[in-house]
Formats: sequence, C-alpha cells, structure tokens
Amino acid sequence: MEETKVVLADHEIPKQWYNIQADLPQPMSPPLHPGTGKPVGPDDLAPIFPMNLIEQEVSQERWIDIPGEVLDKYLLWRPSPLIRARNFERLLDAPVKIYYKYEGSSPAGSHKPNTAIPQAYYNKAFGVKRLSTETGAGQWGSALAMACAMFGLECRVFMVKVSYDQKPYRRMMMNTWGATCIPSPSNVTEAGRQVLADHPDSPGSLGIAISEAVEDAVCHDDSRYALGSVLNHVMLHQTVIGLEAEKQLAKISVYPDVVIGCAGGGSNFAGIALPFVRDKIHGKSVRIVGAEPTSCPTLTRGPFAYDFGDLAKKTPLLPMYTLGHDYVPAPIHAGGLRYHGMAPIISHLVRLGLIEPSAYDQVATFEAGVQWARTEGVIPAPETNHAIAAVVAEAKRAKAEGKERTILFNFSGHGMVDLASYDAYLNGKLIPYELPDAEIQRALKAIEGFPKP
Ligand SMILES: Cc1ncc(COP(=O)(O)O)c(C=O)c1O
Repeated sequence: MEETKVVLADHEIPKQWYNIQADLPQPMSPPLHPGTGKPVGPDDLAPIFPMNLIEQEVSQERWIDIPGEVLDKYLLWRPSPLIRARNFERLLDAPVKIYYKYEGSSPAGSHKPNTAIPQAYYNKAFGVKRLSTETGAGQWGSALAMACAMFGLECRVFMVKVSYDQKPYRRMMMNTWGATCIPSPSNVTEAGRQVLADHPDSPGSLGIAISEAVEDAVCHDDSRYALGSVLNHVMLHQTVIGLEAEKQLAKISVYPDVVIGCAGGGSNFAGIALPFVRDKIHGKSVRIVGAEPTSCPTLTRGPFAYDFGDLAKKTPLLPMYTLGHDYVPAPIHAGGLRYHGMAPIISHLVRLGLIEPSAYDQVATFEAGVQWARTEGVIPAPETNHAIAAVVAEAKRAKAEGKERTILFNFSGHGMVDLASYDAYLNGKLIPYELPDAEIQRALKAIEGFPKP
C-alpha cells in the first residue's frame, strides 16, 4: 500500500532556516530611503524592528540556526504532514500525483505562526514589550496574538475593516490570546484619520493597516512593528515548510515537477518554493508557480518598480512588482491576498525567470476549493483556494498534453473561520472580477517619478 501521509518525527524537524540570498545568481536591489534615495541602513530600520531581526533581513548567510525556544514552540504542531491528495486526483482524472503540505494544522490555522513565533521570540530577546501589526483576513493577526501570548508580549492588531466585519471570529481569537484588535482605517492613528477624512466608507486595505501599525510602533518607545509577509526575514522563517517537504518527499523517493503556492505578500509561497528554487538555480528541472487573484494581479499585471509598502509612505521604498501603494483592491474574500505589492525576493525571482506567476478569479478559486472540500475533506482558506485552482489548471494541462506530472503545493491554511465567504459563493453572491486596465494605470500614477530598480 502506498503511503497517504508522510510524517517526520520531532527530531527530524529542520534546525536551520534557508536564506536564498546566499544563492541568488544576481543580487537583489536594496530598499531605498525615500528621503535620500540611498539604500536604507540598519539604523534607519531600528525604530521599527529589533536589531536581531534587521540582521536577519540583510544576512547573506545560507543557513541560519533556529533558536531552541522557537523549535520548542514549532514542535507543538510541526513538522506538518505531507499528504497525497488521492481523492482529488481521482476527481480530476488527469495523469497527476498531488502532494500538499498541510499548514492548517498550526494552532492559528495557517502558515503564519512559522514567522510569528520567531518574530515574538527575537523581539522579546531584544527587550521589546509590545508589538503592533496589521492583518488582512485575520490569519496573521491571530498568529501574532498567539505568539505574543506565548512570549509574554502585548499585541495590538489593526485589521482591514472589510475583513473585521466579514470575519468576527478572527477578532475573537485575537482577543482570546490577549491581543487588542482595531478595525482599520481607525481613529487611533494620524494615518487612519487621514483616510477616514477623505473616504469615510473606506473598506480598508493592507497598505492602510500597515501605515497605522508602523505609526503605532514608532510612537511608543517600548514597541516595535511586526510584518506577516513581504520582508526577507519573513520569507526566511517560512522556509521551514519547504525544507520539511524536501525531507518528506525524499523519504518516498519523489521529486516534484511543479511547486505551487498562493501569493499575497509572498510568504507561504516562498516557504514552500525557496528550497526548490535553490535546486533550480543549481540545474534541477522544476517549475515553480505562484497563484494570485485577478482582482489584485500584482505579479501578472504590475510593473517591477520601487514603491512604498504602505499607503502613508512610512516604509522604505521596496523593489517589487506593485500596483501602486494607493491601490485599494476590491473586497474579495481572500483578504490575505489583497496587497498592492509583492515580496522583493519573490519579485526578484520572477524577474530572473525562476518563478512563474499566474492569476485566478475568485469564483474559479471557490469552485476549486469546494471540489477539494468534497473530496479531501478539509475546507481550505479562500487564499489557499488560489493554489488549488492553480493545481487544477496544471492537471488540465497535463491531461491535454498526455504527460504525467507530480505536483507539490502548499495548503496555507484551513477555512473554518472563513465560512461566510463559502456561504456567499454557494448562494451565488460572488461575481467574477477582472481589474480594468484603466484602474491599474490610475493606481500606477502614484509611483511616477520614483527611482527605477
Ligand atoms: C491562509 C493564508 N494563505 C495565504 C495568505 C497570503 O499571505 P502570504 O502571501 O504572505 O502567504 C494568507 C494571508 O493572510 C493566509 O491567511
């Protein structure tokens, strides 16, 4: 009998994270200080992040030790299982084998604790008492709330208003873990007040919520800001997913033809993909595909440019694919994918041709997610449905070409707290949405005249 699940014992958990910066064929462009136009140095970032995380952000070391206290917490749910999706394979009736890393088994229900735990740990070690952050769907906010509770830190979360209204249970989770959760745009920061003055009914966006959280951190001496995606150190922490997957696949002598992840800010995708990108850089034949929403098509339709990570221009200028920092994506239910930019590491790898982007409409993604739930059982997070839609597209292609394919994808989280979006889908309330070109051109005016990477 062939195995359905491949599990690793506790002692087999990776003891180091993988830093792709050491293996890049061309270095990334640096983040720039918006005032001077010069690369930002560690001191520029010091009011926002603790120095131990800033060191990781710029590190060129290939392997970085995972501290023992972080491993202790990871072991509460890691190593996560690698599962063969036989029932879904049967439904697709295509010549594909599908394996997925199940990140929904974390206490918060997604991959986000993989970085929340080390971020809380390093902040605590640096003497920080309080963290502020933003959250889209609430997955990141709840993960950080849990991590802060474990390390005895206070936590304040600015949650994108549309998700705050759609997903009250995530707020309740954050409160249960002891965090404060505020709908964004809010009246508690200057950035929020400005948005509300111009757009009293703003649904909010990750860009706005980031501005509020950064402002909150720099205005409190004992506080720092934590980001759940986009930055290099976040991508680094998530590589524990791909490193485990490599070991698990090696146990059954399998190597994937295609590696897939959904891409919002890029972190769960980076987590599964980067160890395989390393193989690809060293000559291995593997395709690596990121799946984003057609309503927020950063990688597939945005330019590669320097842009701010947030609406109020409080972050450095990052070299990335972007739709412009004042772009407010349509309120699709995959709140975690509503970000105007993309991780500089993922953007760089797309530019180098090492990663392929793709985009899916929300209706197609829910169709795939419901098919998944009815065959494999687990109800996926709406974000994860984008990865599943990409798996379906790969399977169809394999069938049309008559070629066998082994697919590995990251199941970034379960959707048990996102059922309202399934209800909307099942009752025909979700409509296909393709972002008009004119809207992209309008949004990109915000970065006219910015330096070019
Ligand atoms: C389940 C899930 N998957 C994916 C994402 C997208 O984020 P990222 O691209 O950083 O993985 C989120 C973000 O909240 C999420 O909650």
